[in-house]
Parts: sequence; C-alpha cells; structure tokens
Amino acid sequence: MQDWSHARRMERKTIGCVPTMGAFHRGHLSLIEASASDCDETIVTIFVNPLQFSPTEDFRQYPRNEESDLKLARENGATAAYCPTVDAMYYPDRSVYVIEDTLKEVLCGKSRPTHFAGVTTVVAKLFNACLPDRAYFGRKDYQQLLIIRRMVRDLDFPLEIVDCPIIREPDGLAMSSRNMYLGDKERQDALSLKQALDAARTAFDKGERNARAIENIARSVIEKAETARIDYIECRDAGNLSEVIDIDRPVVLALAVSIGSTRLIDNIILNPGKEG
Ligand code: PAJ
Repeated sequence: MQDWSHARRMERKTIGCVPTMGAFHRGHLSLIEASASDCDETIVTIFVNPLQFSPTEDFRQYPRNEESDLKLARENGATAAYCPTVDAMYYPDRSVYVIEDTLKEVLCGKSRPTHFAGVTTVVAKLFNACLPDRAYFGRKDYQQLLIIRRMVRDLDFPLEIVDCPIIREPDGLAMSSRNMYLGDKERQDALSLKQALDAARTAFDKGERNARAIENIARSVIEKAETARIDYIECRDAGNLSEVIDIDRPVVLALAVSIGSTRLIDNIILNPGKEG
C-alpha cells in the first residue's frame, strides 16, 4: 500500500483515505464520494479491527461482505482499496499502541474503556500505510472524529481530517452497519433515538438552554421505547467534550442506546450562535 501511495505522491496526485470496517451503506459511500470529489486518488480501507472490540462485543458476528463493498467503492469513486488481514495488520508480539488520553474518558469511553485505543492505533497504522493528504470521517461517530483529530494534531500527522454529515434512512434512523441486527419491533424502537434528538432540538430552538433539561427531554422520548436501554444521553462541549451546564457555546447532544442487544449511537450539534 505504501509503495502505491509513494508512487502516486511522486506523480503529484492528492490522496484521500476513507477508513472503514466494511458492510457499506450510504453513510460510507458519502465519505467515498466526498474524497473522490476532493482528491485525485481515493483509497478505501476495509478492516474489521479486533483491537477496538471488547471480548463481549460483536467482532465475530460483525457483517462482512468484501466483494460487494469493493464494487460499491469503485462505483462511488474509489481508485484503490486496502483490505489487510488481521495477521498482516498486527504482529503477534505487538507492544506499541496509540492512546488518546482525555476525550476517551467520557461518553462511549465509559462503557467501552479499550475501544478508542483500538481505533487510534489502527487509524495511525492505516494513515502510515496509505499516506493520505486527507482522511474522511463521519460525524455519526462524533467522539471518534474528535479523538482522531486530536491524534493528528498531537502527533503531527501530515494530513487533514475532513468531517462529513450523518446520512440517515428516510425515517431518520442514522445509517449503521449494525442496523441489520434489528428485528421489526426493534427497528421501530430504534427510531426513538432520532425522535429524542428532534424533541431536544425543538426545545432548544424555543429557547431552552439548560443542558440537563435538554437531556431529560431526549431521555423521556427514549424511555417510551420498550426494547431501548439508555447507556448515556449527554450534552457536552462540541470542541473538547467538557461538561456543559448552560448551552452558551456549541454543544454536541450525544446518545448511546441499546435496542435489544444492538448498541446504537447518534448525535446532533446545538449551536446557540446560529439561527435555525
Ligand atoms: P465504520 O463503522 O465502518 O465507519 C467508517 C466511517 O463511516 C466512519 O468515519 C463513520 O463515522 C462513517 N459513518 C458510519 N455511519 C455513517 C453515517 N450514517 N453517516 C455518515 N458517516 C457514517 O468507524 C469505523 O468504521 C472504525 O472505527 C474505523 C474508523 C474504520 C477504525 O477501525
């Protein structure tokens, strides 16, 4: 992969990179399209990263369909794909990790304490393999996006992180590779995530600025869904995830909810400086 990227760089081509774990939906494809429209070359990486799953999580069941993913990647503008095996990615005696130490403590990091170290380690390795000028990430995984930006800043990776909007199903559910685990009743209940965020947005637009009140409005919507179990619903500073009491600066309202055994996340930005 490095040889290919070096050769493209010698030709003065710009390289975009879209790291993924495959099982593509339109969210992934929107990142590929964004890269393809900005950059001469677009590398899609597909790697289900064991390091970011805990032993109780769904690493084994995680959906894999590399062949159809590669076709979709090509159709949406990718010019290369990097799909290493686990053995090619990790030495059995590996002993170096990339750990972001602050942002990872909150939100998803509380219930997934080793997750983000797995993400930063693999993304650093993917950047070193692909040597991109730009790398594209979705705002759906908002905490991941901030952590990767922080890694790039603090470790001087010579590339730019581009963030892309959340792509949703027509009924509002944020697209996720894990949505396919949902049964009919669960799929219905999963709508409560977006409905909760919408209710919070409405209250915010009407002038509510108390973070706890906004969280409670969202919470009460989700509590009506039978199969939903809330992990967290929190307003936090959109730039550094610090605690917020009054929403006097941009905040992210982020939530994680298990629907049956499927854990889903979603978020919106509430920006008091911006109308509408
Ligand atoms: P994965 O879950 O496959 O997501 C790959 C990229 O797609 C991430 O940047 C994610 O934010 C983005 N994405 C997922 N759903 C989206 C949606 N509905 N709208 C917009 N973007 C969406 O995130 C990972 O993989 C891994 O942690 C990875 C970064 C590849 C490291 O292993």
